[in-house]
Amino acid sequence: MNRSLVVLAGLAAATLLQFAAAADRVSTAAGNAPHGGQLVSTCSHCHGQQGEGLAVSRFPRLAGQSAAYLAKQLGDYAAGTRDNAVMVSFAKAMSAQDMADIAAYYASLTAPTVTPDRTDAKLLDAGHKLASVGDTAAGIPACASCHGPDGRGQPPVFPYLAGQHAEYITAQLDAWREGARRNDSDAQMSSLARKLSATDIAAVSAYFAQLPPPKPQR
Ligand code: HEC
Ligand code: HEC
Repeated sequence: MNRSLVVLAGLAAATLLQFAAAADRVSTAAGNAPHGGQLVSTCSHCHGQQGEGLAVSRFPRLAGQSAAYLAKQLGDYAAGTRDNAVMVSFAKAMSAQDMADIAAYYASLTAPTVTPDRTDAKLLDAGHKLASVGDTAAGIPACASCHGPDGRGQPPVFPYLAGQHAEYITAQLDAWREGARRNDSDAQMSSLARKLSATDIAAVSAYFAQLPPPKPQR
């Protein structure tokens, strides 16, 4: 083989390797939900058989959340922009394809919801107000402007909040305030969370938790 051909072949191989490495980091491949379903037996101990989560333990609902959002979260745990000892160790052991498959599986599920707790009408009213119009004086935008009307989510970027466990919503808002979660582009959530008072957080958490979650559609 003449010298320039060898160089060309080498370049081509190097380019292919780069492509392979990039594809491994950001999987654009569609997830295979049935295969994902074979990988989640451990996950269901905490996230439930149908992805319903567990309120008291702050284990989030995953059912019907968008596949793109779920896959991003697994990638973020692996990359270290979201802290949680258990989730980081699971995510680090997964390939990008496993993440996509598991995400597609949970995105396809419908799960039972928690019994809506509507005992504190004043708290729910305050939550509804923050969610739908925000608080201009405090510089807090309406949650609905990103998370959609009634917390139904706007896939692929904005997760649904309707029917998510209140305890988990509160834990995430705290995690952004404290910097344990820093995976939101342009610090959209972290800057907003710092403007919320403890009462605001209790109000939006209680409000979103008692709404019906959207049906899986993506
Ligand atoms: C021991 C309990 C436990 C197990 C087992 C577990 N998780 Fe989690 N998972 C959690 C907790 C707690 C959180 C919230 C952590 C945080 O605050 O970031 C979480 C968060 C997540 C999130 C982010 C959800 C969101 O709305 O942002 C995804 C996705 C997820 N887990 C998927 C999985 C998968 C897939 C498995 C199995 C490979 C798994 N989990 C196993 C407890 C668990
Ligand atoms: C400017 C857009 C924007 C606004 C306004 C906004 N959010 Fe978010 N929110 C996001 C994005 C983006 C994410 C997902 C970040 C990521 O990729 O992890 C998110 C995620 C969340 C999550 C985590 C969900 C999960 O499953 O872990 C909670 C809880 C949340 N937002 C609550 C709120 C509340 C409450 C409000 C209103 C007070 C609000 N958000 C307003 C952009 C926004």
